[in-house]
Amino acid sequence: MALRVTLAPEMALCFPPPKRNTKSPRVSMTSTINSSPKDESPKKPFSPRREVHLQVTHSMPPHKVEIFKSLEEWAENNILVLLKPVENSWQPQDFLPDSQSEGFYEEVKELRERSREIPDDYYVCLVGDMITEEALPTYQTMLNTLDGVRDETGASLTSWAIWTRAWTAEENRHGDLLNKYLYLTGRVDMKQIEKTIQYLIGSGMDPRTENSPYLCFIYTSFQERATFISHGNTGRLAKDHGDLKLAQICGTIAADEKRHETAYTKIVEKLFEIDPDGTMIAFADMMKKKISMPAHLMDDGHDDNLFEHFSAVAQRLRVYTAKDYADILDFLVRRWNVEKLTGLSGEGNRVQDFVCTLATRIRRLEERAQERAKRAPCIPFSWIYGRDVQL
Ligand SMILES: [Fe+2]
Ligand SMILES: [Fe+2]
Repeated sequence: MALRVTLAPEMALCFPPPKRNTKSPRVSMTSTINSSPKDESPKKPFSPRREVHLQVTHSMPPHKVEIFKSLEEWAENNILVLLKPVENSWQPQDFLPDSQSEGFYEEVKELRERSREIPDDYYVCLVGDMITEEALPTYQTMLNTLDGVRDETGASLTSWAIWTRAWTAEENRHGDLLNKYLYLTGRVDMKQIEKTIQYLIGSGMDPRTENSPYLCFIYTSFQERATFISHGNTGRLAKDHGDLKLAQICGTIAADEKRHETAYTKIVEKLFEIDPDGTMIAFADMMKKKISMPAHLMDDGHDDNLFEHFSAVAQRLRVYTAKDYADILDFLVRRWNVEKLTGLSGEGNRVQDFVCTLATRIRRLEERAQERAKRAPCIPFSWIYGRDVQL
């Protein structure tokens, strides 16, 4: 998964070197906050540091659970077929030096030589992407909070549960591959990265999907496309820097994300067919809340605004931008034929207009934010041994 989009970054501000408890301004998509970060005490070895919204739960009317039960067979015939058989799937080892082979050291040497040509800001993006992928336990948990589709036993044989487990298993290769690759480059501080992963998984995520598969499948449709775009862009940049192997790795991961996007957008397409009004309202609800990125609670124990800083670098390198956010929204509006939906309720009609015109408004805001972002500061990132990177 990918990045947070900064719709109105206050990048003209000069951030001090990151340290705990600095009051640097947080430009956050999470604005209604019900708790403040707590300091860890010896009696409480871990408590989430980042703030989350008021937690709304089980907002889907109970009778709608039946819709998902009735879609069991449809999901088997339309969604499970999008999974790849394990025997035909790529594995991280296909792209990494084989530790058993005679040529292992030579291959590692070549990998490290290629990686020397790549600048630090690129590594900040790739590390952020890898950390996001590595928080996969959180995403599987999120899917298993959903009413009507959760895996009730851990080995449930419903189509929804099979999808969630197999999706997780496919995604699991993404973090594995990027993690091992980055380790071999010798360019990044693995201990700081591993700490960030531990903090992030411990903190969870706050997508505001309220146990509703309507909200969550809209969220995942958006996210899979966002990751398809960001991995595609890190691949393109790796190629520009002359690392074709890394480009191939990013492209391979991006192709998985695209297939997952197909699955989730298909589910939402079906929901639009069965329940156009409810799905329209859910789509508008997610867009009103803004799609927070999966790793938005990221923390390395040093930088209070780590996620915002990582996102700013990704934005500057064009790995994932506010324009991409607007483009994804446009794509989904077209994919689900939202403009042409008819027979909606009063509220459905009203939010249909909101959703269909939102991308244009976001692009306008983005242009103004870009103007303000001209004097971006440099800040140190723990992931690259505290070296400075321009935001
Ligand atoms: Fe992924
Ligand atoms: Fe994904």
